Amino acid sequence: MAHDPQADGYESFYREFDSPLMRQVRREAYGEDIGQHSWVSADDLRADVLRLQLAKSGTLLDLGCGPCGPLTFIVASVGCQATGLELSASALHAGRRRAAALGIDSLVSTREGDLNRPLPFVTGSFDAAISLDVVLHVRDRSTLFEEVRRVLAAGARFLFTDAGVMTGALSNEEIRRRSAHGYTQFVVAGWNESLLERAGFELLEIEDRTESVSRNASGRLAAMNAHRAELEHASGTVAFESQRNYLDTVVELSRRRALSRIMYLVQAPTDRGISSPTSVA
Ligand SMILES: C[S@@+](CC[C@H](N)C(=O)[O-])C[C@H]1O[C@@H](n2cnc3c(N)ncnc32)[C@H](O)[C@@H]1O
Repeated sequence: MAHDPQADGYESFYREFDSPLMRQVRREAYGEDIGQHSWVSADDLRADVLRLQLAKSGTLLDLGCGPCGPLTFIVASVGCQATGLELSASALHAGRRRAAALGIDSLVSTREGDLNRPLPFVTGSFDAAISLDVVLHVRDRSTLFEEVRRVLAAGARFLFTDAGVMTGALSNEEIRRRSAHGYTQFVVAGWNESLLERAGFELLEIEDRTESVSRNASGRLAAMNAHRAELEHASGTVAFESQRNYLDTVVELSRRRALSRIMYLVQAPTDRGISSPTSVA
């Protein structure tokens, strides 16, 4: 079935997410397939779980959870409850199947929704939040950060990665190729920090994770080339070439350090100054 990734964001990947071929490609690309569709590696996520300081009795929110790979990984390791918010119904379908296969479906809930809208959750209802390689697709991240702060409990932590931080020169051609999954926003270094501060968060840590982009994109390219005939048969030559073009650009921008992937860990104020929970749902 032919598809155009530019037209449908991540949808075509998610419809085929659990096929034996896609599982094989992910295993070869990532080494350890945890059901991610991002630049996240299992090792980074293991360290990030500790950063969140989540208790078994806690609640986690994953913004733009995709097929719930990182979300189910964290739930399986902590035993907490988690909610995933995501635009793609196909991704959430795959995510629920994954949670059921891991025997943690009673701890996981999913909600179809748009991060360009107010978050459909009660104020102060989560003990931690993550958002992995998603904010670059959001039109107004300033409002999103304010919304994340609103739905977090006092002192709760928010960890996210942004793979679109400009740390060098990009051409118009590179920007076009790097935006293959729909609306994409690139920001200058320091931009996220100032918006987070304005939203009332305290910045605890930032870490350069550009290396994981180079590694995972190169891994995906190698796996794609190894399964070229099957992938072209499944999704068409145009889609195959477009994805290869995208990954080549990602590798090149990372190599030149023109575009960086940064991890941000922030904390909501310990005193909310809000007397009773309110809902925007
Ligand atoms: C690179 S994927 C990351 C998925 C997941 N976080 C992971 O690590 O596997 C980006 C995700 O953001 C979602 N997304 C993009 N724009 C969104 C929006 N406005 N509202 C909700 N989700 C969105 C996409 O559908 C996609 O699943």
